[in-house]
Amino acid sequence: MSQNSKISLSVNNWVNQVLGAAKHNVPAAQASAYAPSNIALSKYWGKREASFNLPVTSSLSISLAKHGTNTGLSVIDALAHQVILNGEEVDATGNFAIKVTQWLDRVLPRNLKLRIDTVNTVPTAAGLASSASGFAALTLATNSLMGWQLTKRQLSALARLGSGSASRSLWHGFVKWQAGEQADGSDSVAFPLQQQWPQLKMGLLTISSQTKAVSSREGMARTIATSPLYKQWPQQAELDLAVIEAAIEANDFETMAKTAEHNAMSMHATMSAAWPPLVYWQPESLTQMQKVWQLREQGLPLYLTMDAGPNLKLLFEAKHQTDVEAAFAEVQIISPFGTTC
Ligand code: PMV
Repeated sequence: MSQNSKISLSVNNWVNQVLGAAKHNVPAAQASAYAPSNIALSKYWGKREASFNLPVTSSLSISLAKHGTNTGLSVIDALAHQVILNGEEVDATGNFAIKVTQWLDRVLPRNLKLRIDTVNTVPTAAGLASSASGFAALTLATNSLMGWQLTKRQLSALARLGSGSASRSLWHGFVKWQAGEQADGSDSVAFPLQQQWPQLKMGLLTISSQTKAVSSREGMARTIATSPLYKQWPQQAELDLAVIEAAIEANDFETMAKTAEHNAMSMHATMSAAWPPLVYWQPESLTQMQKVWQLREQGLPLYLTMDAGPNLKLLFEAKHQTDVEAAFAEVQIISPFGTTC
């Protein structure tokens, strides 16, 4: 038996343990669920174990309210799952369909096949990662279809198997994903923070919405294997998370946003010191970053964060929304705690 099949066997064993007899429940005819997308303020970058998607560090994110994924499931009489993305059937051999069907085949009885209808509600071409909200919505919808009645903690661990950041997309508002210590990841789960911050805004600056050439999974592995700067990352990430969590509690925007920006820049520094170098930015990303820094020099409390891609996410408070809109004609404003955006 190869090393790989040994590992996947142990993930399957864990899944079977969690689901127990409920794995063979009679499914409802259909079910659906929604999950918001999320942006980390203190990032997850690096796996301590790849098959369970276990992170090196804890991370903390903010969910994007109505920007996320709606997933509908229905039982079909077929030999294979059918995956529909934004109204169109996707190629069964493509990355997206493979990840979705692999996840489903782990949690469903062997002969049960589904039609999976996934609709992303993130602004079109916003370049937001949809894998977090996608796997969270898929997990919630499957829980409902199968009548598993799992706890949110268990669902968070199941969503993590699809995509690490999906573990955080089961809640609105601020969410913390605890790295955990167990080998099977049963304590590597997310939970919501109680604090609300209605004045907090996020601005999306989309530089490109194309699929990235290097996936997060591959990028993380390359960074850990080759970047000398990664050695300092776990310590900084845990420290940043603690500072951000305290700043959220204290409603201290400057400390929260400054630390989030510093955390993102440090994560990108670990990547650019990898070999071959890993740079997700495009020239326009840097132009926009410099504009943010210039506006800040001029007194505007505006900060940025970036994930494994070229797009910027701006952080600011509601009272500065007009200034931000005046400076960035193309910005899409999101109110993580609001009802309007
Ligand atoms: O969950 P993944 O495999 O898509 O990785 C997410 C990685 C970052 O977006 C860069 C950071 C994060 O914490 O979301």
